[in-house]
Amino acid sequence: SNEELHDRIRVAKQVLGDRVVVLGHFYQRDEVVQHADFLGDSFQLANAAQTVPNAEAIVFCGVHFMAETADILARPGQSVILPNLAAGCSMADMADIDSVEEAWEQLTAIYGTEPDETGRVPIIPVTYMNSSAALKGFCGRNGGIVCTSSNAATVLEWAFERGQRVLFFPDQHLGRNTAKAMGVPLEQMPMWNPNKPLGGNEVAEIEDARVILWHGFCSVHRRFSVAQVEKARAEYPGVRVIVHPECPMPVVDAADEAGSTDYIRKAIAAATEPTTFAIGTEINMVNRLAAEFPQHTIFCLDPVVCPCSTMYRIHPGYLAWVLEELVAGRVVNQITVPDDVAEPARVALERMLAARP
Ligand code: 13P
Ligand code: SF4
Repeated sequence: SNEELHDRIRVAKQVLGDRVVVLGHFYQRDEVVQHADFLGDSFQLANAAQTVPNAEAIVFCGVHFMAETADILARPGQSVILPNLAAGCSMADMADIDSVEEAWEQLTAIYGTEPDETGRVPIIPVTYMNSSAALKGFCGRNGGIVCTSSNAATVLEWAFERGQRVLFFPDQHLGRNTAKAMGVPLEQMPMWNPNKPLGGNEVAEIEDARVILWHGFCSVHRRFSVAQVEKARAEYPGVRVIVHPECPMPVVDAADEAGSTDYIRKAIAAATEPTTFAIGTEINMVNRLAAEFPQHTIFCLDPVVCPCSTMYRIHPGYLAWVLEELVAGRVVNQITVPDDVAEPARVALERMLAARP
C-alpha cells in the first residue's frame, strides 16, 4: 500500500541521515514532495545540488536534465540518482548536439567570428536548462551560457553585453517571450529550421536577427490558450492570470504576469487580500498551491488535467527502492556525465549561477 511505501522511505531516510539529500522539483506529485529535503524550481535545485554539504548521494526527484546538471555541479565522489531513468523531458530531446553544431557552423559561416568595434562577438549560444549536458557543454565551449525560466532575462542581458546576437535553444517560447519583454522586435527573432539548409531562412532575415530561436517547445505548456484566459476573465472578474514563460507568446501576452514556478509560488504567497488566481502551469503544482493557500481561489487554466507525464514517472515506489539500495550500500540509477562534457558544461552553468533571478 502507499502507506507502507511512505514508511519504507521514511525508515531508509532515517538510516541514511545526512548521507543522502532528496531534491524535488515543484512539478513532482505530492507523494514524492512530502519526502523532499528541498523543493524548488530548476534554478534553485541546481544551486542546491552545488551547495549540499556532505551528502554522499543526491536523489533527484525531477527529470533527466536536472539530474545531469546536479552531477555536473556536485562534488567529486557524490553520486546523483534519478529514481526512474525514464523520467526525461520531451522539450530537451528537441535539440540534439549534432543539429545544434550544424546550425552553429552555418551561422558562424554567415556572421564570421570577428568581434565588432565594441568587442562583441557575432553570436552567443544560450541553452535553456531543459537540455542535455552535451548542449550545456557546447555553450561552455563557445562563449555561451545556460538559463532557467527564472533568470532568462538576466542571462540574455549577459549575452547581449558580449555578443551582437543569440542562438537560443531548445524552447522557442521562453526565448521569444523573454526577448520580446526586453524590447527585441519579433521580426528580429527568426526561427531556425533544422531540416533545411541555412535553416530554411532567408540570409537577410538571419543577418538582421538578434535572437535565433530553436523550434522546441514544452508539450505541457503549449496546451494553454488565449481562449482559456478569456474564459477565466469572463467567469472570475478580477482574476489574476499568471502563466509560465514556456507558454506560447499570445498566452503570455493575454496573461497578467509570466514567471517561473518559483515566481508563481511567490506571487501567490505575497498576495495579502483573498484573490482568485488562474495559473498556466503543471497541474500537480497548481493543486498543491491551492491546498497550501486556502484563503485564495487557485485553479489551473486548462480544465483538462495537464500533468508533466515524465515528471510523474517518479513514483514513490522508485524512491523507496533507490533509498533502500543506498542503505544496502548500492548506488542504482546513477546519472554520470563524462568529464569531457561536464567540464565545459560546468563553465556555462557557473556563468548562469552567477546570473541570479
Ligand atoms: P522552472 O522550474 O524553471 O520554472 O521550469 C519549469 C520546467 O518546465 C521544468 O522542467
Ligand atoms: Fe519538460 Fe515541459 Fe515537463 Fe518541464 S513541464 S519537464 S519542459 S515536458
